Amino acid sequence: MSFMRTSAFVGAAFAVSLMATSALTTVAHAEPTVEVLHYWTSGGEAKAAAELKSEFEAAGGKWVDSPVAGGGGDAQATVLRSRVLAGDPPSAVQIKGPNIADWAEQGALADLNSVADAEGWDKLLPPQIQKIVKYDGKYVAVPVNIHRVDWIWANPEVLKKAGVDSVPNTWDGLFAAADKIKAAGFIPFAHGGQDWQDATVLETIILGVGGADFFNKALGDLDEASLKSDTMKKAFTYFRKFQGYVDDGASGRDWNLATAMVMNGKAGMQIMGDWAKGEFFAAGKKAGTDFLCVPTPSEHGYILNSDSIAMFKVKGDDKVEGQKVLAKLIMGEKFQEIFNLYKGSIPARIGVPRDKFDSCAIKSMDDLDTASKGGTLVGSVAHEILQAGAVRGAFLDVATEFFNSSMSADDAVAKLAEEMENAKD
Ligand code: BGC
Repeated sequence: MSFMRTSAFVGAAFAVSLMATSALTTVAHAEPTVEVLHYWTSGGEAKAAAELKSEFEAAGGKWVDSPVAGGGGDAQATVLRSRVLAGDPPSAVQIKGPNIADWAEQGALADLNSVADAEGWDKLLPPQIQKIVKYDGKYVAVPVNIHRVDWIWANPEVLKKAGVDSVPNTWDGLFAAADKIKAAGFIPFAHGGQDWQDATVLETIILGVGGADFFNKALGDLDEASLKSDTMKKAFTYFRKFQGYVDDGASGRDWNLATAMVMNGKAGMQIMGDWAKGEFFAAGKKAGTDFLCVPTPSEHGYILNSDSIAMFKVKGDDKVEGQKVLAKLIMGEKFQEIFNLYKGSIPARIGVPRDKFDSCAIKSMDDLDTASKGGTLVGSVAHEILQAGAVRGAFLDVATEFFNSSMSADDAVAKLAEEMENAKD
């Protein structure tokens, strides 16, 4: 499958978005209303979410904003569960990966096929994304973006002062650079000690050390031999090394505060998905000069994360209409461009022009293409694409317990295999 943005697609997409606009103007009866439950609360995230709100309002809709702070979305997931249990689900919710199928299986999600068929979503979305947002052959969610998880964000001034010419492309090289950054008086890696951030770093190391097939076998198939292998032990050993380059204040720190440490020259690097780029942009920084983006070391790997808005079954013409209007807007070419320029991600929709995107986004598009053709594209566990629920929870637990103790790599792999196996249904 190719993720190439072709001009034929651009032309078709433009025609589709014109049709969508004229369809919106014919909605006259109920005022389209949506309540959107999301966790986009940092600087860059809030700008991206505000774009969706303003486009929805410009289309005549009423937007009820329900943000729940907390990176990675675990706090928001708790709110969602209690709202659904109380019989009062929000109409539109930021969820992803297998969570979408789980909610659909419980009969909680609305069927978006009338919009999807009219707008031709099957031609506008790559198969990997269709797999995520469809349940039983029907669309139950709309993808807003593709985030890449395996990135290093670096401060070029700090690297220069430390005598590091470029961000190395091997883990050993990276740690040697970290030694130099430390010796020059800076924090090598800005990090937030929260379970999902620990798991984010660990999964990039697992991909780097083991490659994509190993990643999928261990973390996707939960193959016991792979989970307990020497390769997995090596990954934990590197994770322990990484920990040595993190400052004492990391515990509990939010991811965007860690990004700010790179931005203001306290730290040299951060390993984080490209929502971090949204923070650099929100602060007026430029890619390539004020900050550098380099994939974490791996053989053409790419860890995919994708945000979607799922529509929950709700009553009331205004709400049902609101869901349709929102779904159309999200898949629109204009929205997919502007939202992702703020968010740090790239469009989920095929054919959005590349010209306004920065060099990191272009690299993400190209690398995604290479990885999807070469079989080195994997789904994130930390960000709920390859695994969700209890199995992902087990991965987070072991990552964070290891990070906050003196557990050996041998014990870590035994625990990982046991806890991930127990978490399977
Ligand atoms: C989400 C992003 C979000 C990040 C930090 C990720 O799991 O996919 O949209 O910006 O967490 O909260």
